[in-house]
Amino acid sequence: MPEITFILPAGKEQTCTAREGLSLMEVALQNAVPGIIAECNGSAACATCHIIVDDALASTLDPISEHENDMLDFTAAPRAPGSRLSCQIKVDGRLDGAAILIPAEM
Ligand code: FES
Repeated sequence: MPEITFILPAGKEQTCTAREGLSLMEVALQNAVPGIIAECNGSAACATCHIIVDDALASTLDPISEHENDMLDFTAAPRAPGSRLSCQIKVDGRLDGAAILIPAEM
């Protein structure tokens, strides 16, 4: 199973073993990763599951949908080039070893 490391705003890291097929949001909630709220439970309607991925990982992920792109304008933390909604990213082998940044709210 892929191992994914969440990097919290204070720099602390939390590494989780993730079951393929779950969303990154579900993995974060299962592991009580701080900063992932997921008010809409994964329907891409709340933007409280905001994460930031680096360029290398972003280039391997499925493209961002128009709806996800629109919702990223409503994140509590400022949007960054690697911003994504974690509920819209399914875990698979591409995420093994990935570092996922949880942005600090402003
Ligand atoms: Fe609401 Fe992802 S959980 S947008």
